[in-house]
Amino acid sequence: MSVVSAEMAQNIKRGSLIRQMFELGIAMKQEFGADAVMDFSLGNPDLPPPLVVQDAMRDLSQNLNRPASLGYMPNAGYAWALEALAKELTSEQGITLSKADVMLSCGAAGAINSFFHSVLEPQDEVIGIAPFFGEYGFYVTNHNGVFKSVMCDLDTFGPDFENIEKAINAKTRALIINSPNNPTGKIYSEAELRGIVAILEKASEKYGRPIYLLSDEPYRFLAYDNAQVPPILPLYKYAVIVSSFSKKYGIAGERIGYLAVSPELEDKETLIMATSMSNRILGFVNPPVVGQYLMMAALGTSTENALNIYTKRRNIFVEILQEAGLEFQIPQGAFYIFPKAPHGDDENFIKALREEKILGVSGRGFGCEGYIRLCYAVEDAVIAKSRDGFKRAVASMQS
Ligand SMILES: Cc1ncc(COP(=O)(O)O)c(C=O)c1O
Repeated sequence: MSVVSAEMAQNIKRGSLIRQMFELGIAMKQEFGADAVMDFSLGNPDLPPPLVVQDAMRDLSQNLNRPASLGYMPNAGYAWALEALAKELTSEQGITLSKADVMLSCGAAGAINSFFHSVLEPQDEVIGIAPFFGEYGFYVTNHNGVFKSVMCDLDTFGPDFENIEKAINAKTRALIINSPNNPTGKIYSEAELRGIVAILEKASEKYGRPIYLLSDEPYRFLAYDNAQVPPILPLYKYAVIVSSFSKKYGIAGERIGYLAVSPELEDKETLIMATSMSNRILGFVNPPVVGQYLMMAALGTSTENALNIYTKRRNIFVEILQEAGLEFQIPQGAFYIFPKAPHGDDENFIKALREEKILGVSGRGFGCEGYIRLCYAVEDAVIAKSRDGFKRAVASMQS
């Protein structure tokens, strides 16, 4: 007798790759000691929140003796928080946004769920470009949609336009992209974004309803070597941004994220109202109150320090992986590297790495067999220590 639904049982199976690695990491750290294990499996930012956030938390704790200071609020968040966010996005996107164009939610994850809940008819399709953040599949099926994976151009990790065009039909409701990308570190260029937009504009016209371009961008702040992450809202009126402060300010556990629509979108009020109402009816109710105060304190704070730290880590990791003889593209952003497994055998490569007490995740969890994902949101010393282990693991795949 099953204690859960058949669909949930299936989800548990599908979600098991990263969970298994997570549990294995804990078990190995217990067995060999935390210092002995080099865990590159989890995308949990390890830097402390900036001082302004720490100060804001202290100030907030001294200012709670007011009615409903931690109470309910409008489902989209406090007006002052929405206004501040709109101002920040106006400067980021180079297009004027008002508080009516934004909605706050429980992380980018909550915003994506509220969006799909608002726009999907049963069996509507959402296209994702593999490799993709593995949770997208859940977020689509949560709302009776169908997740359709198309492969990227594996030479660049950019979009493969032909694959996208072939996947679109009358049921297509959205294409979700993620740049800077988890797991590849790829940043989409403006030309690549324009290529996608041209396809979606034509298809929206053909099928008589908007096909949204949902741009998931929690790693926008992490672009190396002065790379630019082009703003998406000016390019397409059916573009929607989802993002969060999880990675940017190291407050992932505080669950503060948002959604923003193009001011050019016709009837945008209805879409924003629908996503706020989805916050409510999905049970998130409203964005976390503490998260909104922390966001207010943090907005505008320089992320240069984090960028410098991650740049250094990326450079050491690149050198180590090159020395080991792995084939990969140097990440342009985010904190992940996605090397090809020797002989395309990701399962055995993960095992060989585990022998060296190095943990990574198979590309299968991201819809892309033959690769592995390594996350370098870990201390420099952990990366440095992995040098010989990678060499030995790669060598063991040759024998
Ligand atoms: C690509 C991508 N999108 C969304 C999320 C969810 O982030 P949040 O904490 O804002 O919900 C993550 C978290 O790892 C991510 O990597």
